[in-house]
Amino acid sequence: MKYLKIIGQKKLSGDVKISGAKNAALPLLASTILAKNSVTIGNLPNVVDINTLLKLLEMLGSSYSKTDNNTIEINTSKIHETKATYDIVKTMRASILVLGPLLTRFGHCEVSLPGGCAIGQRPVDLHLKALEQMGAVIEIKGGYIHATAPNGLQGATIVFDKITVTGSENIIMAAALANGTTKIINAAKEPEVVQLCEVLKAAGLHIKGIGTNELEIVGTKQELLEFKNFDIIPDRIEAGTYLCAAAIANTRLNITHIIPMHLDAVLSKLEEMGFSILKDETSVTLLPAHTIKSVKIVTTEYPGFPTDMQAQFMALATQANGVSIIDEKLFENRYMHVNELLRMGADITLQGHTATITGTPNALTGTDVMATDLRASSALVLAALVASGETNIHRIYHLDRGYENLEEKLMAIGAVVKRVDE
Ligand code: UD1
Repeated sequence: MKYLKIIGQKKLSGDVKISGAKNAALPLLASTILAKNSVTIGNLPNVVDINTLLKLLEMLGSSYSKTDNNTIEINTSKIHETKATYDIVKTMRASILVLGPLLTRFGHCEVSLPGGCAIGQRPVDLHLKALEQMGAVIEIKGGYIHATAPNGLQGATIVFDKITVTGSENIIMAAALANGTTKIINAAKEPEVVQLCEVLKAAGLHIKGIGTNELEIVGTKQELLEFKNFDIIPDRIEAGTYLCAAAIANTRLNITHIIPMHLDAVLSKLEEMGFSILKDETSVTLLPAHTIKSVKIVTTEYPGFPTDMQAQFMALATQANGVSIIDEKLFENRYMHVNELLRMGADITLQGHTATITGTPNALTGTDVMATDLRASSALVLAALVASGETNIHRIYHLDRGYENLEEKLMAIGAVVKRVDE
């Protein structure tokens, strides 16, 4: 296994080009199950999670070819298998995204239950309840979701008890080929959900309310859609992570190939902490703070502050002057990075959902730390950039799930990072 060795406190500067959004690409790849034609997808991030889903789609019978590292042409017309097996799903919970499209296209499918993960229980009950409301018969047997809807799914009014991103995406895809109209109330409106809706709309689907919490979708009665080619939107979480790298090093950095509006909540917290932000159409520049101020953050659904940026801001808060408070509202166990930051000398206390971080600039020291999940790992990278001495981050396969060319991008802005064999 490899680990990342980072020598901290190097001067960072320059530009970082942001990749396509993993969390947009996953539902969009799954949505090609609804296509009658081959689809070319550009700006696809070359990260492990995407390759995992491509492998699953291939196991189901689709084929794809890579034009370059970030472009594929995918054809799902020959799908003949409808079972997503445990060995794939266990490595990536987002495999659940094939449930809606497989069921609506074939009238039956089996998808392994995702099981636990490092950031808490993460159930899929809301996905299943909504499919049942659309007429599916769902049985959980031997660790698998067995779903059937022999006459196709029926349009229905779905009111989600909680806003769920992949749940909304699954039901949008299920509704696409259903009989009749589906209303989704309390839908997620993250940019990744919006792009899924837009791609389906461009494929001819009648869908209203895009970008709001209420969607209305007229199903095609199992007729497949004619997809247009498209590019994946930029990764707002990768962009936010590099903005935090600039902030933690308190240096000027330019983040390019992004949609700045998607980062509004993150940018406004950086401004509250004393950094200045320059924006244009597709890039953002962070300018250093005179002193880094403490911050209060509550994670919530888009357009609020994203839970996927919580760990990175905690690393940043260790460098603030004063006491910061972070309230994690979405996931009960998303503080796995705290113990590792403590090992680097951070002052953090946890009480229930709330973390209190007493910042002291330049107080972190490098040591050996363990990555636990994707975003927690990126917080450790950020802490390592500002720590004195050397930090070794183990179990970096978590980072490889979602950050494309991480070392290359960091080295290009002046960080000293090396991937080393254990
Ligand atoms: C997605 C993102 C993830 C992000 C999260 C919240 C992808 C692939 N992953 O995850 O990076 O952190 O949104 O922005 O896009 N819930 C239930 N029952 C369900 C579904 C969800 O109780 O059936 C709860 C969850 O436990 C959580 C909350 O709803 O407390 C939100 O979770 P959800 O939006 O579903 O997260 P994911 O879609 O799994």
